[in-house]
Amino acid sequence: MDFINPLANDYTEKYSNATPSYLKSLFEETLTSHQHAHLQSSWTQGGFLSFLSKLLAPTHILEIGTFTGFSALCLAEGLANNGELHTIELRAEDAQKAQAAFNNSPKVNQIKLHTGDAKLIIPTLLKKWDLVFIDADKTGYIEYYNLVMPQLNTNGIIIVDNVLFHGEVLEDSLQGKSAKAIQAFNEHVLSDQNTEQVMLTIRDGLTLIRKK
Ligand SMILES: C[S@@+](CC[C@H](N)C(=O)[O-])C[C@H]1O[C@@H](n2cnc3c(N)ncnc32)[C@H](O)[C@@H]1O
Repeated sequence: MDFINPLANDYTEKYSNATPSYLKSLFEETLTSHQHAHLQSSWTQGGFLSFLSKLLAPTHILEIGTFTGFSALCLAEGLANNGELHTIELRAEDAQKAQAAFNNSPKVNQIKLHTGDAKLIIPTLLKKWDLVFIDADKTGYIEYYNLVMPQLNTNGIIIVDNVLFHGEVLEDSLQGKSAKAIQAFNEHVLSDQNTEQVMLTIRDGLTLIRKK
């Protein structure tokens, strides 16, 4: 499933320590018992999210695609003292698991979980975002980007997951609807004159986008 060599992934885990250690049990439980465990960010990617958030010290973070809460809790590590993180999850069962994880975390009072379709919920959140993580259904990425961009502060950052889509975007003829959607999204971002971006080969591909 993963694009990166599993041995390289293990190596990055061995030589990284930025992931909050208290998240190990949540991470492992999702990995071993959730039928869609592959949806969870890798341990090293969680460390990257946490590291970047600490650098930015954001006041308002938006996450689209909570799953069981691991990436939200990594991102929350860098929140300013008066900051808040909003995260949106479509599936009620996963949202419940995430809320339980948030309740057990030191960041519980700063995290607001919304259950439902992000396309409907984003327009109701009247915030100016400093940091956004897009990690939900791939066919929705362009819409999420267009919804979020007007509410993103200048110098605000969007992190986008799965931009290599298991390597499928490298093929000559794209097959699946998600691979096609990711390819269209990557072109959409590249043609935006109001941003600059860098695509990284972390796990399944992460793009960092800065609003000019
Ligand atoms: C790749 S997972 C997120 C993984 C999580 N960010 C992490 O790193 O642990 C994508 C999640 O997006 C959710 N999702 C899919 N479509 C959605 C939508 N329209 N609105 C909100 N969430 C959605 C899925 O139910 C799934 O839990």
